Amino acid sequence: MKILVTGANGQLGRCIRPLAPDSGHSFVFTDVVEAEGLQTQMLDITDQEAVRAMVAAEGIEAVINCAAYTNVDTAEENYEFADLLNAKAPENLAIAMCEVGGLLIHISTDYVFGGDPYNTPCREEQTGTPTGVYGLTKLRGEEAIAATGCRHIIIRTAWLYSEFGKNFCKTMLQLTATKPQLKVVFDQIGTPTYARDLAEAIMIILSNANEAADFCIQNDLPSHRSQTELLAVRIHRMHTHRSRPLVPRAANHSEPNTSLQKDYDHIYGIYHYSNEGVCSWYDFARMIAEYAGHTECDIQPCHSDEFPSKVIRPAYSVLDKTKIKETFGLKIPYWTDSLRKCINNLQEIQ
Ligand SMILES: NC(=O)c1ccc[n+]([C@@H]2O[C@H](COP(=O)([O-])OP(=O)(O)OC[C@H]3O[C@@H](n4cnc5c(N)ncnc54)[C@H](OP(=O)(O)O)[C@@H]3O)[C@@H](O)[C@H]2O)c1
Repeated sequence: MKILVTGANGQLGRCIRPLAPDSGHSFVFTDVVEAEGLQTQMLDITDQEAVRAMVAAEGIEAVINCAAYTNVDTAEENYEFADLLNAKAPENLAIAMCEVGGLLIHISTDYVFGGDPYNTPCREEQTGTPTGVYGLTKLRGEEAIAATGCRHIIIRTAWLYSEFGKNFCKTMLQLTATKPQLKVVFDQIGTPTYARDLAEAIMIILSNANEAADFCIQNDLPSHRSQTELLAVRIHRMHTHRSRPLVPRAANHSEPNTSLQKDYDHIYGIYHYSNEGVCSWYDFARMIAEYAGHTECDIQPCHSDEFPSKVIRPAYSVLDKTKIKETFGLKIPYWTDSLRKCINNLQEIQ
């Protein structure tokens, strides 16, 4: 498959880049601005015509959308721009994928929840209850994608950190190395996600989705797509370079295998992904300091109201990952194991 990665210079995009060479797919990495040392084509996903042109010029068959307005605090004062990037732009990508019968993998957030006082992990079908502009616009993005009818997989993730960009792990590494004391909130509960783990999960999901599409095409299955869309896929694929042969998975079946078709139809929709486990930001900070050997810093728990903010952050936004594990056979690392890997990598880089 030929895959477009948007927001490719962000945390998640940068974690997808090293997985590309061994994936069996070919990739086009794009972002709105250039970043030093990274090969990137320019693409502003708020520009629908630019998106269409890129999809046509490159023969794109799937998009992984890593671009977003991710600053939760400034989003409160920038509703229009946050909505443009988090809701309208994903719709642009979905429309472009609809037009070629392609697949959109879109990343969303645990911040679509939070307005209700949950105390059990949130499931995919739960009604969104965002508490701020970021969560609201991300929820609107999910709805806009679904409304286009394109094949889509939306992955809600949480508390993303990595070796790249700005994130809680890197901030805490710096603060615990330089400050004798630190207060961190203990009344917001969730689960950290190492962006490399998410990137690997996306590659597995992509392969499953690719097989699903190939299977439906080879077996002339209607899937949930119209015959016109399937025809568009065939024509599109005839005109584009395929990174792997179109081998029908059920070549020895003379009749369409409707049970498999049913399975494949079920892979589209919303999923939750974070690392395993549950913690507060305070616990997260404590583990960061411990793994980094910053034992001199005295970290104390505090309530959220000690850090006044315009944003009401979810008190509990743990994601239930049963669906993604069962559908794609994913084994998800425990959060402290992944955190240790990230900190080791960061210490090696220094
Ligand atoms: N970070 C978290 O804690 C977290 C938690 C849950 C879910 N998520 C979701 O996970 C996904 C990836 O997050 P991330 O942390 O990797 O994000 P990130 O590091 O902020 O990266 C986003 C990238 O998108 C780019 N971008 C901005 N405007 C664009 C436009 N108009 N067209 C194309 N690209 C544009 C950004 O460029 P600039 O930097 O130049 O603006 C940046 O390179 C997002 O959907 C986010 O909502 C993140």
